[in-house]
Amino acid sequence: MQEIKTIGVLTSGGDAPGMNAAIRAVVRTGIYYGLKVMGIRKGYNGLISGDIVEMNLRSVSDMLHRGGTILHTARSAEFKTEAGMKKAVTMSKVFGIDGIVVIGGDGSFRGARDLSELGIPTVALPGTIDNDIACSEYTIGFDTALNTVKDAIDKIRDTATSHQRCSVIEVMGKNAGYIAVNVGIANGAEAIIIPEKEFNFNNDVLKPIIEGKHRGKKHDIVILAEGVGGAVELAQRIQDETGIESRATILGHIQRGGSPTVMDRVIASQMGAKAVQLLKDNIGNRVIAMKDNKIVNYDIVEALEMTKTVDEEILELAKILSL
Ligand code: F6P
Repeated sequence: MQEIKTIGVLTSGGDAPGMNAAIRAVVRTGIYYGLKVMGIRKGYNGLISGDIVEMNLRSVSDMLHRGGTILHTARSAEFKTEAGMKKAVTMSKVFGIDGIVVIGGDGSFRGARDLSELGIPTVALPGTIDNDIACSEYTIGFDTALNTVKDAIDKIRDTATSHQRCSVIEVMGKNAGYIAVNVGIANGAEAIIIPEKEFNFNNDVLKPIIEGKHRGKKHDIVILAEGVGGAVELAQRIQDETGIESRATILGHIQRGGSPTVMDRVIASQMGAKAVQLLKDNIGNRVIAMKDNKIVNYDIVEALEMTKTVDEEILELAKILSL
């Protein structure tokens, strides 16, 4: 592999709070090690079209506290085509980019793997509110999203209590239930419904609501992961079968915004710096991950073959605590 002197950084897929902290870490660590750092705008689309600018120390001032990504992002359909990928490789060469840091979710990781296979050393950082990247216990943005959802549900709880209603709240997570499970515990849900676990309406939703009512509960919170979906229908069904007035709230993109928490800023900074350290040592084709609360890295192909599952114990705990 030729010596890496210039690196590019891009954010791809759904944005996540903390991506800016990761970009800042890449830029400043890169410059600290004497590398030239290029910011690639709008994800892989910017790599294809050459929407690329050189970054300096001040390019990343005053953004650590902001949600979103200063480099903008996209879900690039063109990059999934052979022609698109070829253009991306050509453009990397035109701009003299020897290695790339990709910050994004699992789709972005697959793009990073493809770039690596085409000869551009790439290091991927897990950035998504969903926490659904198999190789990593943690993804940048997850903690901020959890806190946003927690705050929203606390507010919904106030009105659910006043009206003695059942609130069905649909949270993001794509095909994973990590957000749902964690806020289910944090917000004291009566039921948590996630795509990873089959649910039975009578046992998992009706029973806790009806039994809770007999134990004196005045309102209910049901957390539904978007991967299962159907919040409005579920709320209607609960109302029809229990007689308890029910309302659905789909939280939507509010979950993706906002100032990143300390945890997201610190982890994003550590991961961004680690990615640069690998590239400056001419090591590419890796992903940065968290294992046992430490920052580690894996081969990108191996990382994409890993799997992870929701902890059954925490689901059990949520049931016990909702009694
Ligand atoms: O991956 C992050 C995420 O917010 C998912 O939770 C959700 O399914 C998806 O992105 C929504 O994507 P978009 O913003 O493109 O509608």
